[in-house]
Amino acid sequence: MAVRYVAETKTFILETKHSSYVMAVSRYGNLLHMYYGARIPDTDLDYLLTFQDRGFSPNPNEAGNDRTFSLDFLPQEFSTSRNGDYRNPSVELIWGEGGAAFSGRVAGYEVRPGAERIDGMPALWAASGEKVDTLEITLEDPVSQAEVKLAYVVFEEKDVIARSVKLVNRGQKELRLERLMSATVDFRTSDYDLIYFTGRHAMERELRRIPVWDGVHSIGSGRGASSHQYNPFAIICEKECGEDQGECWGFSLVYSGNFIIEAEKDQYKQLRVHAGINPQNFSFLLEPGEEFQAPQAVLAWSGTGLTGLSHIYHRIFRENLCRSPYRKKSRPILLNSWEAAYFDFDDEKILHIASEAADMGVELFVLDDGWFGKRDNDSAGLGDWTVNRDKIKIGIGRMSRKIHEMGMQFGLWIEPEMVSEDSELYRRHPDWCLREPGRPAVRGRYQLVLDLSRRDVCDYLISTMNGLLEKAEIEYVKWDMNRSIAEAWSALLDEKRQGEVLHRYMLGLYYVMDQVILKHPEIIFCGCSGGGGRFDPAMLYYQPQIWCSDNTDAVNRLKIQYGTSFAYPISSMEAHVSVCPNHITGRSVPFSTRGITAMDGMFGYELDPTKLTPEEKEMCREQIRFYKKYYKTIMDGDYYRLSSPYENQYFTAWQHVSQDQKKSLVSIVVTDKEGNDAQRFLKLRGLKEDAFYRIEGWRGKYSGKILMNAGIPVPFELGEYEGIQLGLKMI
Ligand code: DGJ
Repeated sequence: MAVRYVAETKTFILETKHSSYVMAVSRYGNLLHMYYGARIPDTDLDYLLTFQDRGFSPNPNEAGNDRTFSLDFLPQEFSTSRNGDYRNPSVELIWGEGGAAFSGRVAGYEVRPGAERIDGMPALWAASGEKVDTLEITLEDPVSQAEVKLAYVVFEEKDVIARSVKLVNRGQKELRLERLMSATVDFRTSDYDLIYFTGRHAMERELRRIPVWDGVHSIGSGRGASSHQYNPFAIICEKECGEDQGECWGFSLVYSGNFIIEAEKDQYKQLRVHAGINPQNFSFLLEPGEEFQAPQAVLAWSGTGLTGLSHIYHRIFRENLCRSPYRKKSRPILLNSWEAAYFDFDDEKILHIASEAADMGVELFVLDDGWFGKRDNDSAGLGDWTVNRDKIKIGIGRMSRKIHEMGMQFGLWIEPEMVSEDSELYRRHPDWCLREPGRPAVRGRYQLVLDLSRRDVCDYLISTMNGLLEKAEIEYVKWDMNRSIAEAWSALLDEKRQGEVLHRYMLGLYYVMDQVILKHPEIIFCGCSGGGGRFDPAMLYYQPQIWCSDNTDAVNRLKIQYGTSFAYPISSMEAHVSVCPNHITGRSVPFSTRGITAMDGMFGYELDPTKLTPEEKEMCREQIRFYKKYYKTIMDGDYYRLSSPYENQYFTAWQHVSQDQKKSLVSIVVTDKEGNDAQRFLKLRGLKEDAFYRIEGWRGKYSGKILMNAGIPVPFELGEYEGIQLGLKMI
């Protein structure tokens, strides 16, 4: 059993294949966090708790005259406010007539097989027969009468512990929740680094690694979506931790809205990590008997460095997150019309582009923005999801049939959460968008945000989207969301409940996605938010792939995809070849390099094939052939970051290795070049040491051991921005 309670030591032990997570009940009933790290035998970990009189660290009343028992110093599993712990708490609330302390004591626990659904929100699920257990610990506070249920879903084989928290108002008066963290992990020391992923539109998930320092380092989003600016994923690691050595801990939040991840070094040089809904602009009113469910946090430990940690997340996100059958099924190579035509098209132009795409070997044609309403530019039409007959005279049904006749599947772009002021929908329902009372709404890309905290708006979207999807044969949908949310006010909610709006928006969005996306398992849904502005596990629950970034510059993409790969599997990253000079950066990079970079993901094109030279079209055919040859290895093989674009100015390299280690694809892109340059070498990874491999196009056979220890010479003749792909096959 992955979960045990040892009564003599009042200890809860969660065990995965390689890790142990241990909690114990203190002599006063507090739940203490004892250990999270390499798997250890059952031991009484009480000796790890040390007690000193800590000046200015108060003692709970029940400790009597014992000045050595202070919650300000003890490692806690669910830290509480106003109890003498001055670190940031797991929970903040106001109950009844203004009391604000919460003092939860362990009141019981239950162990259940499997993984349960979380109310209204995406969460990891267990496959049938998979070794997964859930521990639920109840904390009670007789004064506030708030009851907390901590749930731990232990994926034994996959080395993952998913934690979530529910708070129930068991009292007779209303309770206002102001903060509820999904995960809290206390480390006894703080000699660690914090790794997080930051960015902006068109430059998402840049890696940052900084020492944990005094005070609170907080990353997060207040933009109503998980955002381009920070990703809901962070790592704590030992100073010496690298790709293949050292201890590291991952914190990932299955949530697409406002979040925080905090790393706090306290006065005693300990570290506390929190992950949860951002308390800024958040509060939730609970009437007697009502409960609040916080999203799930996915925790993982690796003792074999950052690659080991990434492999844990890739595997669990590939196998236990997405509900779409396409998480396993092969996905078509697509061409998307956005950079090919933007808003400037009619059906003839689109069909011309499509037939050239078919001729290149493309398998799916996607019609991006501009096909509906009066959408001739981005200032109008959102909300009116009927075809624009001035542009698509033949209608979407016939367009789809014609694309199918060309031997391709058909995909469509939508942005259901938004409305343009210049639209029929807005004219009919001006009150359906988020807006502060008495003030005009804030615009983003000229558009307003529909109030998805309202059930009527959600139901309208569900019937409109389902109607649209049933009208034509559509195999792929790109679900976009193109602005940050500014206002958090809903016309329908009571004044005292306005702090709930942004979370209710997320619940509304999940409800819509449940009713639209999960009702169409035959369609591949691709997530998008101005590129990768909502690249998070909750979106991956619905959509097997997400458009990684609007930035298709192959050199910038090296960093964007490198950062994304720390948590997210390659099968989730949509990447396309576009034209040069690049539309965002103006940089020119060889066509072949653009192909190499885009093959580090779910491959496709973002260009007008009618404008390609015959040589370029031939290169596309060759790229498609090559990608299909390595598709399985890329899609569900193990991923190795061989060389970091942050640390190596000369080249970036990565490697996909099939699960059976028989096949591998190594990709190298040169990023800088010097005259009479050094010969550089690249050590491969993930191969079988004692097996022999042939490298496509090279003479000879090489043992896995030599390839991983001496490496291979990076071809000297590669110029700046040139690249190479090397296919390896075990013999
Ligand atoms: C933002 C997306 O990231 C682009 O690919 C494109 O779909 C535009 N929106 C369309 O408005």
